[in-house]
Amino acid sequence: MIHGTDPQLLDGFKQAMRRVASTVNVITICVRGEPMGITATAMSSLSVDPPSLLVCINRTASMHASIADVTHFGVNVLHTDQAHLAQMFADRAKQELRFASGWQLDCERPPRLADAQASLLCRRIDHHQFGTHSIFIGVVENERVRGEVDPLLYLNGQYGRAHFTRE
Ligand SMILES: Cc1cc2nc3c(=O)[nH]c(=O)nc-3n(C[C@H](O)[C@H](O)[C@H](O)COP(=O)(O)O)c2cc1C
Repeated sequence: MIHGTDPQLLDGFKQAMRRVASTVNVITICVRGEPMGITATAMSSLSVDPPSLLVCINRTASMHASIADVTHFGVNVLHTDQAHLAQMFADRAKQELRFASGWQLDCERPPRLADAQASLLCRRIDHHQFGTHSIFIGVVENERVRGEVDPLLYLNGQYGRAHFTRE
């Protein structure tokens, strides 16, 4: 896929993206009783009416083939103290451990992280394949937020937290 792209442009693009701060999210689905999840920073709100968002999932991710088979996916926005979950859901060797604790699993719905900053239940309504990834669009049907605003952030290849000062 990178075939044909100028390596200098590619490097510049990566350097540019290192300067883009993101929240860290665990996208979840439940397929035939099996919970699946992936760490993803590529999540964005899309429209307010209807309330909707999009997530970008790599075609090599194990959930990619299955997300097309489910009606709903979950977006769990991680709290600043949940970097260990971000690491686990990005480590293929830890697939079996991912839902060991902290998750509400009934498998009629996508797994929901009890202590997430925010959990959004989304009806998957559309998808679009582009390059290495697919974009999945979800309409939000249910949300739950946790008290204070203190999400885990990812910037310049590192996890961190927001620190705003007033002028
Ligand atoms: C901080 C961070 C952000 C990531 N963001 C995305 C993303 O937006 N989309 C994606 O497909 N993979 C993303 N990944 C990679 C996946 O989490 C990783 O490849 C994961 O192991 C795939 O799930 P699997 O092991 O079940 O295949 C990210 C990884 C990290 C550490």
